[in-house]
Amino acid sequence: MTLPPLAFIGGGNMATAMVQGLRRAPSPPPITVSEPRAEQRALLRDLGVAVTADNRAAVAAARVVVLAIKPQIAAEVVPELATAWTPAHCLISILAGTTTARLAGWLPPGARIVRAMPNTPLAIGLGMVGLCAGAHATPEDLAVAEELFAPCARVLRLADEQQMDAVTAVSGSGPAYVFRTAEALVAAAEQLGLARCEAELLVEQTLVGAVAYLRERGIAQAAQLRRAVTSPGGTTAAALAVLEAADYSGLWCRALAAAAQRGRELAAAPSG
Ligand SMILES: NC(=O)c1ccc[n+]([C@@H]2O[C@H](COP(=O)([O-])OP(=O)(O)OC[C@H]3O[C@@H](n4cnc5c(N)ncnc54)[C@H](OP(=O)(O)O)[C@@H]3O)[C@@H](O)[C@H]2O)c1
Repeated sequence: MTLPPLAFIGGGNMATAMVQGLRRAPSPPPITVSEPRAEQRALLRDLGVAVTADNRAAVAAARVVVLAIKPQIAAEVVPELATAWTPAHCLISILAGTTTARLAGWLPPGARIVRAMPNTPLAIGLGMVGLCAGAHATPEDLAVAEELFAPCARVLRLADEQQMDAVTAVSGSGPAYVFRTAEALVAAAEQLGLARCEAELLVEQTLVGAVAYLRERGIAQAAQLRRAVTSPGGTTAAALAVLEAADYSGLWCRALAAAAQRGRELAAAPSG
């Protein structure tokens, strides 16, 4: 499929990651990014895309518009896009918590909207994206959205938009959990007397190796792979006992529930 001309509204972290990912596509579409900050526009221009500070001009130059601003300013920005909107446009929103129904209220009646929840490893071609259709989105719109992310991510389509808060909690925010774990492991390794560079090498290669092993065997084998490292009464068992005593599984349940709840709060926030 040849992707139609694209515009990004907001050229921050996620838009930059997506632009980097799209450069992997066999034939990348023309891309315009609208971004208020001049330094950020210069960085994006260096990635080979057209840049502007005029959101309406970006919409006019595109058929598919990727909304990549913070959810908190959507009520201010999206109604402005409506003045340049035509029936030929499709909106792909990556905003956490903001429902397609809410976005539709700011656009002309019948506007086609797809909601997507990507994550930052998309910048290196290893992203994960959840997708669902708004009320008027067509199968072709979903296919375009899938094609947009395919060069840099695996895509999961969801039939029920309410599941997007769970997707946000698991894979949207998920890379931060891994990065936080890496930070904690490095700090704990230093506490055991290792130099910082030694701790970083040990932790980085262990995380990379363990994840590659998991992928090769399949995530359904996670418990089996864990048991293979855990001799009864051994060192790994001693460490895992500390984590279990702190209710490790319960901690993750509470963390993910807090992220999903925050998504619902963002969705329910007054439209400003
Ligand atoms: N980061 C993630 O891992 C992640 C994952 C999944 C989904 N998301 C979603 O992706 C969206 C963007 O997140 P992000 O991390 O990329 O945020 P970000 O880095 O802050 O990017 C947003 C960009 O929008 C620009 N902007 C501000 N006002 C604007 C306006 N009126 N018109 C056009 N652009 C404007 C901002 O410029 P200034 O800096 O000058 O304000 C900034 O460059 C959020 O809705 C978030 O929920 C993020």
